[in-house]
Amino acid sequence: MRILSIETSCDDTGITIFEAKGGLTNASFKILSDNLASQKIHAEYGGVFPVLAKREHAKNLPLLLAHALKKTKLEKKKKPVDAIAVTYGPGLEMCLWEGITFAKNLAKEWSVPLIPTNHMEGHILSVFGKHKGSFKVEKLKTPILALLVSGGHTQLVLMKGWMQYEIIGETVDDAVGEAFDKVARMLGLPYPGGPYISKLAEEERRLLRGIPGSATARTRANFQQKIMGADAKQSSPFILPRPMMYTKDFNFSYSGLKTSVLYLIRDLEKSGQKINDKIKAEIALEFENAAIECITHKVKRVIEKYGIKTVIIGGGVAANKHLRSEMKKITTKGEIKLLLPTLELSRDNSVMIGIAGYLNFIKNKKKVIKPDTIKATGNLRV
Ligand code: KG4
Ligand code: ZN
Repeated sequence: MRILSIETSCDDTGITIFEAKGGLTNASFKILSDNLASQKIHAEYGGVFPVLAKREHAKNLPLLLAHALKKTKLEKKKKPVDAIAVTYGPGLEMCLWEGITFAKNLAKEWSVPLIPTNHMEGHILSVFGKHKGSFKVEKLKTPILALLVSGGHTQLVLMKGWMQYEIIGETVDDAVGEAFDKVARMLGLPYPGGPYISKLAEEERRLLRGIPGSATARTRANFQQKIMGADAKQSSPFILPRPMMYTKDFNFSYSGLKTSVLYLIRDLEKSGQKINDKIKAEIALEFENAAIECITHKVKRVIEKYGIKTVIIGGGVAANKHLRSEMKKITTKGEIKLLLPTLELSRDNSVMIGIAGYLNFIKNKKKVIKPDTIKATGNLRV
């Protein structure tokens, strides 16, 4: 069947048309046209402005649809697709409504079913996708652990069976991506800051590599000695905390880590130290190490406790190189299969909504849902 999928949960407008066939563990997809409009407008405000995002979605949706229909030569067909999958949560409700209303109108005009789709399930299933060409869903060994890391979520989702989700841990305050963005802002880096922090940290890590001994510690110690004199031995501004890392549960906390960076910068400035590029890179490295260590530590424990056979990572922070390489280390050691999304599909996109939409349509035996019952659900959970 041919499906149109729509994503408008935050600041990316996505429309994909694809062919899909097969069942829950062997579905195959062929992308006919994939379109993503990333809203640049929020960069100057240092965060997503919901009213602006909604306005941009309203502007982008008809343009992307026209482009997709033209590219697939379906624009003259009375019924260009067989179903429409649309994100109905979680996300910014006014943005979600923009996509839902657009989808409802199309479904009515073309007389096709609507498939309400969960954005986070989309991130989980994004690991099978590509933004062009063909791809397949593969049968995975259970239990599966899905780590969801984005601007709004930090969750550990246990899947004892295929497409059966149980959230076993999550952040009690900020999401990890949000912490990356806020720390970037403190360091005067553009929004969204995750990729910038990650780039700085990566460069610093490379610089430190090759130096014998505990290079990171030595660099820090030298630096602290320089700015703080004898006190440096007492306090260690470049060692940031790992909040909740050792708690028995599988939850996370990023608000304290973010505040620690704020205090560190404030203390450095008070001591007369300019926050130059070198200092920014040092802070970025320690922040990234701390943020990722909190995740990998809990992932290791979940793997042990539940005998996890497959690990999936989804969400914008899945693009983080350090997280990817640390997760590879953990899973290779335990001979666990690790599935990572492509960089294009780590961020928000409509391909993942298409995959999740189609699989749910199959799971629900193609049951048609009344469009009136589909409502934007900002805090939807998997
Ligand atoms: O999934 P996503 O595109 O949107 C949400 O649903 O939130 O995730 C966006 C988040 C932002 O916080 C962004 O800074 C972060 O993902 N991000 C990264 C990297 N690339 C994107 N964080 C760390 N390292 C990266 N390389
Ligand atoms: Zn997302």
